[in-house]
Amino acid sequence: MSLPREDRLKALGLWPVWRLRDASQTASLATPAEAVATDIGDSWDALRSAVQSCTRCELSKTRTQGVFGVGDIAADWMIIGEAPGADEDRLGEPFVGQAGKLLDAMLAALGLKRGEDVYIANVLKSRPPGNRDPKPEEVQACLPYLLRQIDLIRPKLILAMGRFAAQSLLVTDTSIARMRGRLHEYHGVPLIVTYHPAYRLRNPADKAKSWEDLCLARQTMARLKDPGLS
Ligand code: URA
Repeated sequence: MSLPREDRLKALGLWPVWRLRDASQTASLATPAEAVATDIGDSWDALRSAVQSCTRCELSKTRTQGVFGVGDIAADWMIIGEAPGADEDRLGEPFVGQAGKLLDAMLAALGLKRGEDVYIANVLKSRPPGNRDPKPEEVQACLPYLLRQIDLIRPKLILAMGRFAAQSLLVTDTSIARMRGRLHEYHGVPLIVTYHPAYRLRNPADKAKSWEDLCLARQTMARLKDPGLS
C-alpha cells in the first residue's frame, strides 16, 4: 500500500515543504521545489556552502569535505551516483577515481564531456567511512541537497548510476535488473537507471547491458529535445 504523498515526504525528512519564490523555475517539475526543507539555501552558492558546513548526520565528523557536485549548472543531463569515496573525499569532486574514468568514457559514448551539458552529483555529499553502505538516516538527511540541486539545474534527464542511487531516488527495493531498461520519473524529471561504473569495473561481462542503457538514455534525450521524433 503506498503512503499519501505528505506521509512519504515526512518519512524522508522533507516536510514541511519549501517553495521557490519564482514559480516559473519549477514549471518543468511536477512535484518540485516543494520537496525541500527550508534551511539549505536557495541559491546555488548558498546551497554549496550549506553542504560544506553541513552537520546533519554523523558523516560530517569523519569526512574531509562535503562533495557538492561538478559540472554545468544549466545541463540537460544529470548523473547521480551513490556517495564520495576516498579520492572524492580528498579532492572534493565526484567520480574522480577509477570509477570516474569509466564514467568519463560512458559520457563520451553519449557525446558528453565532464563539465559540458552534464552535472554530476551523488545522493550523499559526505563519504561513508571505509566506503561502507550509506545508512537510511544519512540518505534522509542528505537528499534535500540533491533535490535542491535538481530544482536549480532542472535537467531534462537523470541517469542514476547503480542500485543504491536508483533505489534511494525511486524509494524502492526493486533490483537494478528490474529498474533498468525503462523510463522512471523523479520529481517530474525523466530518470534512467544503469549500472554503477564501479560495478562495471568488477563485472566487465555486463558491458553490453550498460551500453543498452546508454543507448536508451541517448534516444530518450533526443526525444525530450525533439518530441516530434518517434
Ligand atoms: N562512486 C559514487 O557513487 N560516487 C562517487 O563520487 C565516486 C564513486
